Amino acid sequence: MQRTKLAATLLLQSILSSILILSPFQRIVTAQPLPPAKQDGFFYKNRRVDSNTIVVEAFFDPVCPDSRDAWPPLKQALEHYGSRVSLVVHLLPLPYHDNAYATSRALHIVNTINSSTTFRLLEWFFKYQERFYNAPTHNMSRASVVDEIVKFSAEAIGNSYLSAIESGFNDRKTDLLTRVSFKLSTSRGVFGTPFFFVNGFVLPDAGSALDYNGWRKIIDPLVGAKGSKSVDSLHFFL
Ligand SMILES: *[C@@H]1O[C@H](CO)[C@@H](O)[C@H](O)[C@H]1NC(C)=O
Ligand SMILES: *[C@@H]1O[C@H](CO)[C@@H](O)[C@H](O)[C@H]1NC(C)=O
Repeated sequence: MQRTKLAATLLLQSILSSILILSPFQRIVTAQPLPPAKQDGFFYKNRRVDSNTIVVEAFFDPVCPDSRDAWPPLKQALEHYGSRVSLVVHLLPLPYHDNAYATSRALHIVNTINSSTTFRLLEWFFKYQERFYNAPTHNMSRASVVDEIVKFSAEAIGNSYLSAIESGFNDRKTDLLTRVSFKLSTSRGVFGTPFFFVNGFVLPDAGSALDYNGWRKIIDPLVGAKGSKSVDSLHFFL
């Protein structure tokens, strides 16, 4: 009985939402350029991707402690493999982290200003993310949190960028870029952070950090298998 009720409610909701989506007014207000002209994601060290590159995609939230903990071992693994492995970081600002969206937007802003500084700011957020947790910012207005994030970001990448970062927060384009990140993440089925994909396949244990040995266990067989026609390395996913 309850299931029928639930099904009816869901049906009604989907009808209502499709009416809303189809309404011309709504389309104008929320129109998103999807797919975006430029792929979402920050490429670590701008490593080139070709058909032989092993591509790791990490979905992070700048104020998520598990994302923070996941970064050092992943970085160590990337150093180990060098150009054989590429990393693309996508952002999923989690709705229950009050400042996830603004900190994610800051990353898009600095990436637009100078893409060589993006990972420095990401690491800076990971290092001091407690400052932007829910409790310490509970009594602050949204505007003053953004103000803090602007100053914080300039501290990370250089004070000469202060006014550029500030105007970035008034530029609708950077809001849209952050929305695209969110939409990409949710369309890929990502519901928490960190979440990892390797060559397009999701890794098990999503939502928790992977240590260095964990990365070696996943990537070593893939690196070894390249060109050797071996399918052994597929064991992990099959
Ligand atoms: C971008 O940032 C990098 C790293 O800090 C710096 O070396 C470079 O000069 C900057 N580029 C521009 C155009 O400011
Ligand atoms: C927020 O403000 C209230 C009222 O002034 C105060 O009682 C509370 O301790 C403050 N909370 C934080 C986290 O600063």
